[in-house]
Amino acid sequence: MARVLASTLLFCSLLLLFDPSFSSPLCIDSVAPYTLNTTLKFCPYNGSTCCNSTEDLQLQKQFQAMKISDPSCASIMTSILCARCDPFSAELFTVDSTPRPVPVLCNSTVSANSSQSRQAANNFCSSVWDTCQNVSFLNSPFAPSLKGQAGLPSNSNISKLTEYWQSKTDFCNAFGGASMDGSVCFDGQPVTLNNTGTPSAPHGLCLEKIVNGSYLNMVAHPDGSNRAFFANQQGKIWLATIPDQGVGGTMHLDESNPFVDLTDEVYLDTQFGMMGIAFHPNFAQNGRFFASFNCDKVKWPGCTGRCSCNSDVNCDPSQLKPENGAQPCQYQTVIAEYTVNGTSSPPLATSAKPTEVRRIFTMGLPFTSHHGGQILFGPADGYLYLMTGDGGGTGDPYNFAQNKKSLLGKIMRLDVNNIPSTEEINQLGLWGNYSIPKDNPYKEDTQLQPEIWAYGLRNPWRCSFDSERPSYFMCADVGQDRYEEVNMITKDGNYGWRVYEGPLPYIPPESPGGNTSSSSISPILPVMGYSHSDVNKKEGSASITGGYFYRSMTDPCMYGRYLYADLYATALWAGTENPENSGNFTSSEIPFSCASDSPIQCSSVPGTSLAALGYIYSFGEDNRKDVFILASSGVYRVVRSSRCNYNCSKENVTPVGSPGPVPSPAKSPASQLTNPFNNFVLLFSSLLLLLLGFVQ
Ligand SMILES: *[C@@H]1O[C@H](CO)[C@@H](O)[C@H](O)[C@H]1NC(C)=O
Ligand SMILES: *[C@@H]1O[C@H](CO)[C@@H](O)[C@H](O)[C@H]1NC(C)=O
Ligand SMILES: *[C@@H]1O[C@H](CO)[C@@H](O)[C@H](O)[C@H]1NC(C)=O
Ligand SMILES: *[C@@H]1O[C@H](CO)[C@@H](O)[C@H](O)[C@H]1NC(C)=O
Ligand SMILES: *[C@@H]1O[C@H](CO)[C@@H](O)[C@H](O)[C@H]1NC(C)=O
Ligand SMILES: *[C@@H]1O[C@H](CO)[C@@H](O)[C@H](O)[C@H]1NC(C)=O
Ligand SMILES: *[C@@H]1O[C@H](CO)[C@@H](O)[C@H](O)[C@H]1NC(C)=O
Ligand SMILES: *[C@@H]1O[C@H](CO)[C@@H](O)[C@H](O)[C@H]1NC(C)=O
Ligand SMILES: *[C@@H]1O[C@H](CO)[C@@H](O)[C@H](O)[C@H]1NC(C)=O
Ligand SMILES: *[C@@H]1O[C@H](CO)[C@@H](O)[C@H](O)[C@H]1NC(C)=O
Ligand SMILES: *[C@@H]1O[C@H](CO)[C@@H](O)[C@H](O)[C@H]1NC(C)=O
Ligand SMILES: *[C@@H]1O[C@H](CO)[C@@H](O)[C@H](O)[C@H]1NC(C)=O
Repeated sequence: MARVLASTLLFCSLLLLFDPSFSSPLCIDSVAPYTLNTTLKFCPYNGSTCCNSTEDLQLQKQFQAMKISDPSCASIMTSILCARCDPFSAELFTVDSTPRPVPVLCNSTVSANSSQSRQAANNFCSSVWDTCQNVSFLNSPFAPSLKGQAGLPSNSNISKLTEYWQSKTDFCNAFGGASMDGSVCFDGQPVTLNNTGTPSAPHGLCLEKIVNGSYLNMVAHPDGSNRAFFANQQGKIWLATIPDQGVGGTMHLDESNPFVDLTDEVYLDTQFGMMGIAFHPNFAQNGRFFASFNCDKVKWPGCTGRCSCNSDVNCDPSQLKPENGAQPCQYQTVIAEYTVNGTSSPPLATSAKPTEVRRIFTMGLPFTSHHGGQILFGPADGYLYLMTGDGGGTGDPYNFAQNKKSLLGKIMRLDVNNIPSTEEINQLGLWGNYSIPKDNPYKEDTQLQPEIWAYGLRNPWRCSFDSERPSYFMCADVGQDRYEEVNMITKDGNYGWRVYEGPLPYIPPESPGGNTSSSSISPILPVMGYSHSDVNKKEGSASITGGYFYRSMTDPCMYGRYLYADLYATALWAGTENPENSGNFTSSEIPFSCASDSPIQCSSVPGTSLAALGYIYSFGEDNRKDVFILASSGVYRVVRSSRCNYNCSKENVTPVGSPGPVPSPAKSPASQLTNPFNNFVLLFSSLLLLLLGFVQ
């Protein structure tokens, strides 16, 4: 009971943290708008919209039933009813998470100097009143009862606005609002956003190297300090202090003294290991943290879970031919919960017990590739998101990613604050100790397994939430042969794999588990990405690594751009959204080099000033919102672009004097040119090389 209360309080405090003032394209039911081929018959929407033809027809019927005789008022009421179809309808119809019967009507009195100057000239709420106040219509959406106010006739079904509202002020107090801080109001037209002109692409990304080691995960300490956890593929987690910038400090990470060592449980192989770590949002109080890793049931008795290949998903384990002569579902994906050592305040903890507190999730894997495995807490909802790959095999042979009953190729959303009893877990058929958030999409889409938040992914490799806009949940998804993609993840979104590879139709070579036709799905297209032919394929292939929206002011020219890379480090991109909050991105490849005064000197690509990073496994973000690249050759921080002589006019130019040593370009011996990494690093590299699964 106490725990339920505590977690309820926690949940409420998390909700308060959520800043809803930033808009993004989202429908009233929290799903992403879809892209229509044609214009709707009744409502003036085409392209991106929240209505299909059925809903359009319903709105038309609703409008006709209102029997509005006055043509001007009829036109205004059409636009108000049709605002449900606007790609920003969630924003227009939802204030303080309570859905409204009509959109927020732009009310210029509060925003006379708003940046949306169009609204200053167009007080839409005032127009609605002036045009419709004396017009009678049935089933008025403006009845006060709909605002929850008592005492007025709510059964009167023929009405004028003046019967409910004494004056324009009264009316606009109830229904008016303004666009502020990036939120939008309805002005009678489909929402249009600021077009800031085409922002110029940044000139380059400047890096400094702060540590030599190779890590798969970096998570900022939830206490807000300048510390972060780093984890490697083998299963160790370290706690390290991030050095201040510009003082030449390296990061001291004592390899022999990890925060916790889980290598006994973790099964390590080319494509297996510890894939994710996540710290409870209230870690500073409760000390709870989570690791996502692979295990081998032959080697560890704790490695037992249901096989993801089962009759519910048209898969017969005896038909599986896992590689390396393994048994079906011998290897599993596990999420286990741990806690800091000792009873002292968790922020003071420097170690944790390797004993599992609780098993959150266990699932047997059909093949030996595409496991995803990242875990993240949603900043707005406090739920744990788990990313899974399609399980491997060329072209997802069992069609798991499109199968709504399978947990492969999915983004799952689990509540780890309310743990059901063992009885309930068995009764509900859950895969571990978690509960299902009430607003998961299975409520609306009853075909979906209740854990699922979004589906149709191949191998999500690095997802992140924009720290300024929690509704921007970005996931890079590794492609098969042709296209690497970045998706904006929304509730119940289908990201198309294996019917589509990015925007391209995909024809699977084999389909023992059935097929999905392209006409039966409405996939959400990637917002960014690149073709394999676009990148230098000297390594043989391409594999995307997703990054972060850059939210530090260290490099103001990168601010607000989404950074991502190719694993082979032959390329790095910055995605720029234009107009702001539109979901419309353009990406440009950007050069990256290492500051001459980097605390640890970097290797350069022979004959250039570009940094040779090795493989880019992952990105990280610290509590100062600085972004880090986790590469096979070390950890790199994005620093002021002037330190690499990249021009950024927004940078507060401080005298450029490099305190550190300047590496001479002639320094690289021939052996380093061909092999810039030492053997230690090469070992790590080969481990992860195939992890991301463009090759079977
Ligand atoms: C879009 O329109 C084209 C022809 O204009 C048609 O071939 C295609 O099937 C349509 N797509 C959808 C999803 O309706
Ligand atoms: C619909 O598409 C046409 C042509 O692409 C365009 O001219 C029109 O403005 C669009 N209408 C809306 C409401 O977006
Ligand atoms: C339109 O959307 C509704 C609800 O989202 C759905 O039930 C219906 O099947 C859809 N109709 C068409 C024609 O796609
Ligand atoms: C509002 O805008 C006008 C002109 O656009 C300007 O003169 C005035 O100072 C502004 N007022 C405020 C409070 O910003
Ligand atoms: C509505 O009625 C009021 C008073 O009855 C009147 O002053 C006003 O001009 C009317 N408005 C319209 C648009 O007819
Ligand atoms: C008006 O409301 C009453 C009761 O609320 C209902 O019986 C009647 O059918 C309604 N009339 C119209 C025209 O909708
Ligand atoms: C809308 O405008 C009216 C005056 O026309 C004002 O009294 C009211 O406070 C405004 N309401 C909102 C929510 O901005
Ligand atoms: C438009 O841009 C201004 C600043 O340029 C910003 O304050 C405002 O919130 C933006 N509006 C929208 C709807 O994004
Ligand atoms: C990092 O590695 C380089 C080359 O292997 C070595 O010279 C340097 O001392 C190392 N630096 C640190 C801080 O470990
Ligand atoms: C946990 O803390 C105790 C003392 O509080 C210490 O003896 C023990 O070695 C610690 N265990 C680990 C794994 O750090
Ligand atoms: C729940 O956690 C306990 C403790 O770790 C574990 O024994 C049990 O097997 C877990 N239940 C499931 C369904 O994983
Ligand atoms: C998307 O962005 C591109 C480049 O900035 C721009 O040309 C295009 O008009 C934008 N599309 C929309 C729908 O705003």
